[in-house]
Amino acid sequence: MTELLEPRAMGQGLVRRDGVAKVRGTATYAFETPAERPAHCALVQATVARGRVTAIDTAAAEALDGVLAVVTVFTAERLASVEDAELAALQTAEVAFRGQVVGLVLAETSETAREAADLVEVTYDEQPHDSELRADRDDLYTPEKVNPGFETDTAEGDVAAAMATAHATVDHTYSTATYHNNPLEPHATTALWDPAGDGFLTLWDSTQGVHPSRATVCQVLGLPQDHVQVVAPHVGGGFGSKGTPHVNVVLAAMAARVLPGRAVKLALTRQQMFSLAGYRTPTIQHVQVAADAEGRLSAIAIDVVEQTSKVKEFAEQTGVPTRMMYASPNRRTTHRLAALDLPVNSWMRAPGECPGMFGPEVALDELAHDLGIDPVELRIRNEPEVDPETGKPWSSRHLVECLREGAERFGWTGRDPRPGVRREGGWLVGTGVASSVYPTMRMADSTALIRFEAGRYAVEIGAADIGTGTWTTLPQIAADALDVPVDDVEVRIGDTRYPIASVAGGSSGLNTWGSAVVEAARAFRGEYGTDPADGDEMETGVDQAAQDEDHAAYAFGAQFVEARVDADTGEIRVPRHLGVFAAGRIVNPRTARSQFVGAMTMGLSMALHENSLLDPRSGHVVNHDLAEYHISVNADVGDLQAHWLDEHDPWVNAMGTKGIGEIGITGAAAAVANAVWHATGVRVRDLPITLDALL
Ligand code: MOS
Repeated sequence: MTELLEPRAMGQGLVRRDGVAKVRGTATYAFETPAERPAHCALVQATVARGRVTAIDTAAAEALDGVLAVVTVFTAERLASVEDAELAALQTAEVAFRGQVVGLVLAETSETAREAADLVEVTYDEQPHDSELRADRDDLYTPEKVNPGFETDTAEGDVAAAMATAHATVDHTYSTATYHNNPLEPHATTALWDPAGDGFLTLWDSTQGVHPSRATVCQVLGLPQDHVQVVAPHVGGGFGSKGTPHVNVVLAAMAARVLPGRAVKLALTRQQMFSLAGYRTPTIQHVQVAADAEGRLSAIAIDVVEQTSKVKEFAEQTGVPTRMMYASPNRRTTHRLAALDLPVNSWMRAPGECPGMFGPEVALDELAHDLGIDPVELRIRNEPEVDPETGKPWSSRHLVECLREGAERFGWTGRDPRPGVRREGGWLVGTGVASSVYPTMRMADSTALIRFEAGRYAVEIGAADIGTGTWTTLPQIAADALDVPVDDVEVRIGDTRYPIASVAGGSSGLNTWGSAVVEAARAFRGEYGTDPADGDEMETGVDQAAQDEDHAAYAFGAQFVEARVDADTGEIRVPRHLGVFAAGRIVNPRTARSQFVGAMTMGLSMALHENSLLDPRSGHVVNHDLAEYHISVNADVGDLQAHWLDEHDPWVNAMGTKGIGEIGITGAAAAVANAVWHATGVRVRDLPITLDALL
């Protein structure tokens, strides 16, 4: 058990320390990094989904005034490592997906670079490609593990036997669409290669982790770590798409080495982000649940079919939440993949849990209706004493409390369970509920340095603020760990010059960096006491050995939605959406609320709007910009509220935090789908829910 830090600064809704700079436009993002006479890089992308480049004519591009260099798959430097095929930029003439980069142009301006890129003539030997995910494909395969190290399949008891003998069963197939992360700031890099000595590469990059990014870039380019610096003080969102470097970062570095001493700027266009920055696989989920007359589950199973790129395997762990959410003696989870000629899919906010909390949470709603049991009550009846997957006790689990608190706040009591019977004017009205979950993670490899400088404490750690609030929340933790006012703490993040920090991913950022800061603060006080001298400093890392292994640690939540469906047009509105979460200690209620409601909005978006439409003839997402890839906007969001329980978990870390970046998206789409069913009586099992399904 950890002694929880006494909260003084923690718990305060302090305003963002970087807020004024962001509002005034003085916060510098990667592309804006000041540079003298920067060169601009534009990319040439394959226009076939599979084949081989047979020739590239660069003459017209090179003849354009202001063009500095054109590099192609035939002329590019050979990289030190091509092990990660996604990052093996310009290393092969083989085309594995439409949009793959086959060349780049460097020019004096971005306009010239783009014009020249359009003038590059690429000839292909085009091959037939295969880009259609279907559950009945005969070439589905079983990955060894799912993201990153989960068992692919699990089985306990006999689901088939339980299904055959149960009082009630649900057996349906659900699907989620393809989604693209689309952070506000596109993937962008300013890269500078200083040829002095053995060379030194600086990357001002929009990344969720400067140190992990540097490690990858060094491996690909064959550079020692101390010859590369990655800088990212401000990042305009990532949602996982900046959690690992994509090929654009490697291309920027390669381009910088073409023009030594000159900064090179490369920003993906919004359209390029649909083929080069990762995305979430579509999923097809066969879900089975069985229960007795009282609603106690005797079986729960999910068999998932999804896709990976042939370039690099990414197996989304969609079945994972079904392993631990509810008590059931019989359970099964499986994952099968189709390897397609498509861009590389990757992390997107709550990989696994996000799609995996759709099918099963709708299936439970169907079961509740069949049994005549309230869907809140059904979930409460299946609360497991211990983690069903590992048998470990929970570090803390307050799902039931979230459901009850949410029901109370939402006004759930007395809900008429019948679907399609409430009409207000032209609107059919319904309500729905679903659970949320996200694992509590802490990474290794994080170290903080604390230095006493001119009467204040400087805390240095290569952490990231991707809009999450790290600039503000890390000082709160440091202040409490040092037992000083928060104004006496200055935090420096987003630079590999600072001690190593883990990625802002898996909702683990603050859990990990905060733990490192607490360790450093304790060591600092142990060494120098409460009256340090100027320049006293202490650097120490997160104590991974002290990480509790004996409990299952998760954040939980419950989401309640009111849906209104126009009886004539099928238009769907969500006037009310409430989330109640039990996610450990909330370090800053202001920035935390933003995380919760942001993720819930993304879940609403998944329910009603988001859908990357792939044309199987071209292997191309046709709605590849924000004009046609629809997301929930302000007008789509009604009364959206996030609340949380005051949860004290002594097992997770010294702050008692569980991570809050991702849980809000989990279960949200299911709650919307369940509310739409309650409004209309139409059970939509495929996302997004569009009006044509309701008419
Ligand atoms: Mo998040 S998808 O783990 O960056």
